[in-house]
Amino acid sequence: MTDDEPQGEREQVGFDPVVMRWVVLAMLGLAIGGFVAFRLLSTPVPPPSPEIARDPFLMQGRAVFLARCVPCHGLSGKGDGPLASQILGPPVGNLTDAEWKHGDQPEQVLKIIRDGASDTRMQGWGTVLDPPELAAVAAFVYSLAGRPVPGALRGK
Ligand code: HEC
Repeated sequence: MTDDEPQGEREQVGFDPVVMRWVVLAMLGLAIGGFVAFRLLSTPVPPPSPEIARDPFLMQGRAVFLARCVPCHGLSGKGDGPLASQILGPPVGNLTDAEWKHGDQPEQVLKIIRDGASDTRMQGWGTVLDPPELAAVAAFVYSLAGRPVPGALRGK
C-alpha cells in the first residue's frame, strides 16, 4: 500500500501530545505568573473621595488624570509619579500645594494643560484630549489642590 506512506510521515510531523501538554501548561504558568507580578507591582488606585464620586464632571477628570497624568504627577498630584524622577528639565512640581507656577485662574490652568510648558516635559494635551476632557481634568486638578472647582470650567 503506497498510500500509507505519506500518511505515516504526516503523523511524525504532528506535535507530540505529551510535549504539547507541557507547552500549554508552561504558557499558562507564565500568564498567571505575569498577572500576579503585575498585580503586586502596580500601585492600587484608591477609590475616589465622596465629593468626587458624586460629581460626574470630576469623575471624568479623574479618569483622564489616571490615564494620562499619573506617570509624572502621581496618584495624589504631589509630583511623585513613577516617571517623575526620570524626566529631564524642570521637576514635575506639586499640584496640591498653594504655588501655581503657571497661574491659578481657570483659563491659565486650562492653557498649561492644553498647550504645555515649553522646554519642560509638560507636553500640550490639546491634540490628545477634546475640550470637555481638558476642562474636566483641569477641574480635577483644582480638587487635588483642595480648592473649589471654578464654575467657568463646567460646560466647556
Ligand atoms: C511626562 C511628564 C508629565 C505628564 C505625563 C504630565 N505632566 Fe503636567 N507637568 C509636568 C512638568 C515637568 C511640569 C512643570 C512644568 C514647569 O515647571 O513649567 C508640569 C506642570 C503641570 C501643571 C502646572 C502646575 C503649576 O504649578 O502651575 C499642570 C496644571 C499640569 N502639569 C497638569 C497636567 C495634567 C492635567 C496632565 C495630564 C493630562 C499632565 N500634567 C501630564 C510633567 C508632566
